[in-house]
Amino acid sequence: MTNPVRAFAPASVSNIACGFDILGFALQAENGQTGPGDVVTASYGEFPGGPESGGPVRIARITGDGGRLPLEPGRNTAAVAARALIEGEAPGATVDLQIEKRMPLESGLGSSAASAVAAVVAVDALLDLAVPEQALLGYALAGEVLASGGAHADNLAPSLLGGLVLVRSLDPEPDVIELPVPAGLACALVRPHAEVNTRESRARLERQLPLDRAVTQWGNAAALVSALYRSDLELLSRALVDVVAEPVRAQGVPGFHAAKAAAIEAGALGCSLSGSGPALFALCDGRDRGTEVAAAMADTIEAAAGVACDRLVSPLPAPGARVIAGEA
Ligand code: HSE
Repeated sequence: MTNPVRAFAPASVSNIACGFDILGFALQAENGQTGPGDVVTASYGEFPGGPESGGPVRIARITGDGGRLPLEPGRNTAAVAARALIEGEAPGATVDLQIEKRMPLESGLGSSAASAVAAVVAVDALLDLAVPEQALLGYALAGEVLASGGAHADNLAPSLLGGLVLVRSLDPEPDVIELPVPAGLACALVRPHAEVNTRESRARLERQLPLDRAVTQWGNAAALVSALYRSDLELLSRALVDVVAEPVRAQGVPGFHAAKAAAIEAGALGCSLSGSGPALFALCDGRDRGTEVAAAMADTIEAAAGVACDRLVSPLPAPGARVIAGEA
């Protein structure tokens, strides 16, 4: 098998408004090329891999993170995910990892998930393991738990599998359903230059919901799935409502409500936070509409809150993680 192996895992939008912790989709660049995400390079480690030596994974280098991510394997999402895979499937193996962050940290775009997914895909290929995708997801989950403090796979699953996915359950093992995407659907994405810590953001959410709000949320989640199967964009638009996380989290994203109103005014089907934010996404009928909506959202946040924004229009569905050769 080739040594080393490089793998790319894309950024993703999780929750999709009404699907807190269960729905997500992968992102790509406007022209269908590789968009934001992470690259992890795995090579055979030349060091003892016992517990005394710190385990079977070593991080040789991290780039693109501004020196913020830990090199210590036990504190790094990519290394924790790779370690779980090796301990489960190839005890005794050792690997070195190099991590290239090609996306911002704490942006709501699944940065830690992309690291964990790229790591397990690279190590799986390096060691010629051919672990089934749903099992690979279970190993990547160890990295996400480290990063966010909770076991949820709504960034991991789309980053690994691509497309738009439903994570029905993680217990006793990942049960992930790939959903159809209506032709021409696009995601307008805006990332304010700010950060939200996912672990802290999750801690602020209510632990218990009143029954009427829970009913509203699961009604919308079920409607969203139905809309995807029927390619019914009007139903999709009605379903893109979050009464659980957005009301709490929007308070921490200056300009959110004005930007959401601008997105709808510009013709978006719906708009909400991407994951825990601060990035916002809007689903749109067509790439051109997506471009207009992204501009409306970004201009509004820049004017209302004085915060600069990056913008991206991603055609859907986008491909998931893959082994790459040379530069991606
Ligand atoms: N579903 C998660 C959340 C995604 O909204 O907290 C971020 O990890």
